[in-house]
Amino acid sequence: MGLVNAKEMLTKAKAGHYAVGHFNLNNMESVRAFLLAAEEVKSPIILGVSGGTAKYMGGYKTIAHMVEDFIEYLQITVPVALHVDHGTYEEALAAIEGGFSSIMFDGSKYSIEENVEKTKYIVGLCREKGITVEAEVGAIGGEEDGHIAMGECADPKECKAIADLGVDMLAAGIGNIHGKYPADWKGLNFDVLAAIQQETGELPLVLHGGSGIPDEMVKKAITLGVSKVNVNTECQIAFTEATRKYIEDGKDLTGKGFTPRALLAPGLEATKAKCIEKMELFGSVGKA
Ligand code: 13P
Repeated sequence: MGLVNAKEMLTKAKAGHYAVGHFNLNNMESVRAFLLAAEEVKSPIILGVSGGTAKYMGGYKTIAHMVEDFIEYLQITVPVALHVDHGTYEEALAAIEGGFSSIMFDGSKYSIEENVEKTKYIVGLCREKGITVEAEVGAIGGEEDGHIAMGECADPKECKAIADLGVDMLAAGIGNIHGKYPADWKGLNFDVLAAIQQETGELPLVLHGGSGIPDEMVKKAITLGVSKVNVNTECQIAFTEATRKYIEDGKDLTGKGFTPRALLAPGLEATKAKCIEKMELFGSVGKA
């Protein structure tokens, strides 16, 4: 199976009360790790690409071709969506052109009026091409690609205004932040989440900043309407810890342990294991 958009997998997740994991690509090893994880546990998967990753990995077209070719080469049978993460207007357009099957247009930095205008245009374009669209209301805190925002709670009425434009999924701030959570973090705001779902009906909601949220909170968010959970930092840390251990154990100094493929293999395995752990938590295992 080649790339699919995220519509069917999210509709099924919503109906089945589980969530599909969105895992951020960072390099070629992460492509392999996530595809192999999803296939091993028969889970649908969404691969997310930030603007920084797009630049690092050769642009949207290169990444789309790479992922499609890996799907064929590794004989992946589970549904895989390739999704822009926090795309600017320009990045979203470039990814549509480059062959992505799903787009996040993050208009949260604009006024709600301008966010509506731009989202409407992107939705129209994506409809013609069968590409799914995620929009964002209320900036999600933390740091991502140099962009820092404090954790906000979205206004449920604004969420409805964006939902009514025909987006396929909505990221709404409920106190979540990207990256590591501070010790004094107050947790997710479930009242706001419930109010957003009330306003937006059956629309799948997206939980960003999935790293470091206590498991019980993630599960509760899923029962309240979250159908997609984004994870990046925990997989990055798993990769880096395994790589550090390889070097600290002196394995790069033994035999051909210095080759880049050998050096990066433990990180790939650790990323894969972390991805499977998250899929179990989200309940998507066996749902492909
Ligand atoms: P974390 O890095 O906190 O897991 O967040 C990932 C994310 O939300 C990507 O959009």
